[in-house]
Amino acid sequence: MRFQRPRGTYDRTPDASPLWRQLRQLFDRLCVQYGYAEVDPPIFEHTELFTRAVGEATDLVSKEMYTFPDRKGRSLSLRPEATAGVVRLVLENKLLAAGGLLRLAYWGPMFRYDRPQAGRFRQFVQLGVEALGSASPAMDAEVIELFVGLLREVGLAELRVDLGSVGDACCRPAYEDTLRAFLAGVADRLCPTCQERRQANPLRVFDCKEPGCQALLGEAPRIMDQLCADCQAHRDRLEALLGARGIAFRRDRDVVRGLDYYTRTVFEVNYPALGAQSALGGGGRYDRLVEACGGPATPAVGFSGGLERLVWAIGNEKTLGRADLGVRGAYLVLLSAAAEAPAARIAARLRASIPAEVDYSGRGLKAQLKSANARGARFAILLGEEELAARAVTVKDLDSGEQKALPEENLLELIQAWSAGAPPAARP
Ligand code: HAM
Repeated sequence: MRFQRPRGTYDRTPDASPLWRQLRQLFDRLCVQYGYAEVDPPIFEHTELFTRAVGEATDLVSKEMYTFPDRKGRSLSLRPEATAGVVRLVLENKLLAAGGLLRLAYWGPMFRYDRPQAGRFRQFVQLGVEALGSASPAMDAEVIELFVGLLREVGLAELRVDLGSVGDACCRPAYEDTLRAFLAGVADRLCPTCQERRQANPLRVFDCKEPGCQALLGEAPRIMDQLCADCQAHRDRLEALLGARGIAFRRDRDVVRGLDYYTRTVFEVNYPALGAQSALGGGGRYDRLVEACGGPATPAVGFSGGLERLVWAIGNEKTLGRADLGVRGAYLVLLSAAAEAPAARIAARLRASIPAEVDYSGRGLKAQLKSANARGARFAILLGEEELAARAVTVKDLDSGEQKALPEENLLELIQAWSAGAPPAARP
């Protein structure tokens, strides 16, 4: 019996790990620089949280959640997204009590039962931030800047930022009436699902992928054209702030977000070369969500980015070279079984400064050097009978091919000098 991974999932294999690790480090660094503290809610929550926060009528909740009863019959769901869980975590741990701004970050797996295709998985990893406590467009600008900054740092230049607004409690009800009236006029041509949405949650008709509905909706009124003065001012200010920071964006009347909690700002950052699933991330403002989850009225804004798509886009541009993939270290090549114990001792000393791997495979010199190169090591450290007898080692710089024999106790010094660009004199 051979097992296979479930449909829509993937295995991350070792060759991909350096890039993932580097992205994680970059994200962590940006979060420290901007002051976002990491939080880690569980990957499953009470189903009710998502129904309330994300919206019962959304595809995400009604069609794509992995929902199951636990052994006591309580309904739990694997999280399809993280914002709801973060808000729950904030309230449960009374993090708002301290007042002021709360800047939070997360990284972890999400689950959506959707039709798998390139760039769309049933388990995928998101990174994201949520900023609670500010209604200012400057906060929206900061989270967009952070995400775009991350993408630029990994070398993705061809980005398209789509920016829109979904209004607020002041202008949305009137807009929904206009939309309902429009939908009533074309009701007989809508699909059965949109017929239902038309009354309960008319905005969700924009989620429909039926070509017939999509054609009809091209003519539908858009909230962007009916924003109240405050929403319009918010949007104008955000656009000015992004312009001032050199972040180009496209005003988009059609940014459709598959979640109900948004108010005012919505955005998506696309990398068009990826084709159909080109959204590297998206987010927006959700000024009513904290209250809807039982907390005090608290404005908030955030985004989430999809790691698989990010990695895919980086592969597409081949922007990160091998040398960028973290610290390169030493690879200890053993030319005699007697070298195992000394090798472990030397490696332990090296690891205080650089990564060090020991080859215990018992293969010949050539095969071990091949592995050293394949592992991306900078130095091969050769340990044979001769070296052991003299308590010495032979160090080979795998970039330049230079080789030098030296006493074991000088090893670290030499490696440091060598990496700093001062190659030692050749072996006498
Ligand atoms: P979202 O647009 O649903 O937003 O997801 C954000 C990103 O996650 C997408 O742009 C995409 O890169 C990635 N993603 C989504 N679904 C999949 C999938 N099936 N396979 C691979 N990648 C996927 C949210 O999740 C909101 N929580 C964002 C947010 C945070 N809004 C406010 N704060």
